[in-house]
Amino acid sequence: MTAADFVVVANRLPVDRVEGPDGEEIWRTSPGGLVAALEPMMRNVNGAWVGWAGQADVELAPFEAGGIRLIPVALSAEEVAEYYEGFANDTIWPLYHDVIAPPQYHREWWDAYVTVNRRFAEAAAAATAPDGTVWVHDYQLQLVPQMVRELRPDVTIGYFHHIPFPAHGLYAQLPWRDQVLRGLLGADVIGFQRAQDATYFLTAVRRRLRYEVKGPNVAVPEGDGTRTALARAFPISIDTAPYLELAAREDVRARAAEIRASLGNPKRILLGVDRLDYTKGIRHRIKAYGELLAEGRLKVEDVTLVQVASPSRERVDAYVHLRDEIELAVSRINGDTDTMGHTAIRYLHQGYPREEMVALYLAADVMLVTALRDGMNLVAKEYVATRVDDRGVLVLSEFTGAADELRQAVRVNPHDIEGLKAAIMTAVEMPPAEQGRRMRSLRRRVLDNDVNAWSSSFLSALAEVRGR
Ligand code: G6P
Repeated sequence: MTAADFVVVANRLPVDRVEGPDGEEIWRTSPGGLVAALEPMMRNVNGAWVGWAGQADVELAPFEAGGIRLIPVALSAEEVAEYYEGFANDTIWPLYHDVIAPPQYHREWWDAYVTVNRRFAEAAAAATAPDGTVWVHDYQLQLVPQMVRELRPDVTIGYFHHIPFPAHGLYAQLPWRDQVLRGLLGADVIGFQRAQDATYFLTAVRRRLRYEVKGPNVAVPEGDGTRTALARAFPISIDTAPYLELAAREDVRARAAEIRASLGNPKRILLGVDRLDYTKGIRHRIKAYGELLAEGRLKVEDVTLVQVASPSRERVDAYVHLRDEIELAVSRINGDTDTMGHTAIRYLHQGYPREEMVALYLAADVMLVTALRDGMNLVAKEYVATRVDDRGVLVLSEFTGAADELRQAVRVNPHDIEGLKAAIMTAVEMPPAEQGRRMRSLRRRVLDNDVNAWSSSFLSALAEVRGR
């Protein structure tokens, strides 16, 4: 296979291999914001994507899908348990999301993380043309930048961190904190979602490694001297074009009307769309909504909350418990308040294609994004991009990266249940003129800083640092 000038390295390939009902092979789009953000960019470059196909013990040769060259990295069942479900999603994920769930520290998990990161780095090094560029993504692969640099000093290396980076007092818990910082500093540019994430990272570098930090620049020791690594915020976004197109399509608009009708044409539809994850604040949202119904401030005849909670990381204990808690809360509220014709919460533990999501966004008067911690939250941006009619209200947690940009949303602290209830009422009662004023401003921001603006600003910073 010919080497590529531009290689993306991410835990997941853009498509996931799953088994159909008769054991046949099916490929489907991978979950989460990372893939959604990167895929459109990859279609426009002559590049390759190194990642895992989502199933254990499957060895696959490189192949092409949707115009993108894919290079699968195999993981054994034990590595899936220790590297992916263990270190990535039960150590780093909860630690970096401010310990909302307790992080588990296990030495065997760390060993698996090192082994698997090396495998990704070797695959990337082998796939990249001389003087090419490698762009590493996210917390599953924090050691890869340094490993690629050791294997291929000629290559330019970028790293983008899609989730939050924690304050030093929390980060310091990690038994392998220095190794992870050194791994990340193998990159020429280390990108974060928020300015605050970059600041926390730079503080950790200064305090732990004692490297010289000036503004966003780190002097990383190399040979007899130093080289510069740049760490700063590049807030990620979405590819707005497909949302605009779908929102304008007659059949999608008809589907939105059909969704409203099938819910009994309530006066207001509220919507939550999340991976079923404890960082998303789904419990807080449901609690606030349930209290508003119980207090009679909302009536089940007038409102419905549609909660799409797509299945995620179902073998990690914290996710198993979360699902039980949420499903108990939903069925209690529905049991207490539903009538034959109206339901308080339409709960859907399923994932949907984009067309259906756009119809749902168009049907929803209020979008609830109440994450306790979230790197960015692209659902907030998808909702805004879809509202070509300048209607609808976004309720947005201040603990999301999106809150830095989407200033005209109704801001909430999801831990404050009374505040959350007040914000929901403000959104439900907001007059159309004010909805329009806010939505126009939100839309300007999302349409200006779309995913193309994001990737070009990251890649030009990368070219600049390397050219120094
Ligand atoms: C978030 C992470 C991604 C991850 C996605 C889905 O968006 O930032 O790196 O791929 O969640 O999670 P999963 O564990 O299914 O890949």
